[in-house]
Amino acid sequence: MRRAGKVCGDILKELGNIIKPGISTMEIDRFVEKTVKANGMKASEKGYCGYPASVCVSINEEVVHGIPSKKRILREGDIVSVDLVVEYKGYMADAARTYAVGEISPEARHLIETAEKAFFDGIAFAKEGYRLSDISNAIQKTVEGEGFGVIRDFVGHGIGSDMHEDPQIPNYGKPGKGPRLQKGMTLAIEPMITQGSYEVDVLQDNWTAVTIDGGLAAHYENTVVITDGEPQLLTL
Ligand code: MF3
Ligand code: CO
Repeated sequence: MRRAGKVCGDILKELGNIIKPGISTMEIDRFVEKTVKANGMKASEKGYCGYPASVCVSINEEVVHGIPSKKRILREGDIVSVDLVVEYKGYMADAARTYAVGEISPEARHLIETAEKAFFDGIAFAKEGYRLSDISNAIQKTVEGEGFGVIRDFVGHGIGSDMHEDPQIPNYGKPGKGPRLQKGMTLAIEPMITQGSYEVDVLQDNWTAVTIDGGLAAHYENTVVITDGEPQLLTL
């Protein structure tokens, strides 16, 4: 998982230099697939429940699970979320970032920064001794404190030899609930947040989740190892 996480995080970093006005979301998919393979690893989203691409790429009001396409061209002012799972010897790491395409509005910038801040406020509780929903509650407080919405229909999750393992990790809820965190747990913690309503619809392609009100969405995720001290981030 550590080795998969390093490749996953490095690819997401490199995408920061590649994402520009004028490229298609398929070019992101091509770069990801090529780089994962060059590292002797696998992009596990391909074929997962029939998902057709190597990576999820979601633009503006698309929250998650956008399917790369040659026809989707990024334009100045867009925001684009990329969510990638890399697998090495059967073990996985999962991470996501939202990128600015050229110059974006201050509100869009604020949304992207809040998703990241919420993740870090959440993992302040990702330590042995806390309970799972302490993370959820911290994320919700940050997001709603900035005036944004927390997606309910998608959640973080345990991860290991399967992409989605127990427990589910909502980005909202009362503190002090759920399992006690223990050393060695590996969790994908992933605030998905919205400018307006947190409600989503799924498009005709049966994958792309969009906000019902057309407001922007942002996503920030890392695979985290619980220890008795600070959490370790495998995908940063
Ligand atoms: N990587 C996503 C997550 O954060 C799941 C993607 S679903 C897939 O859990 F079908 F695209 F793989
Ligand atoms: Co995930």
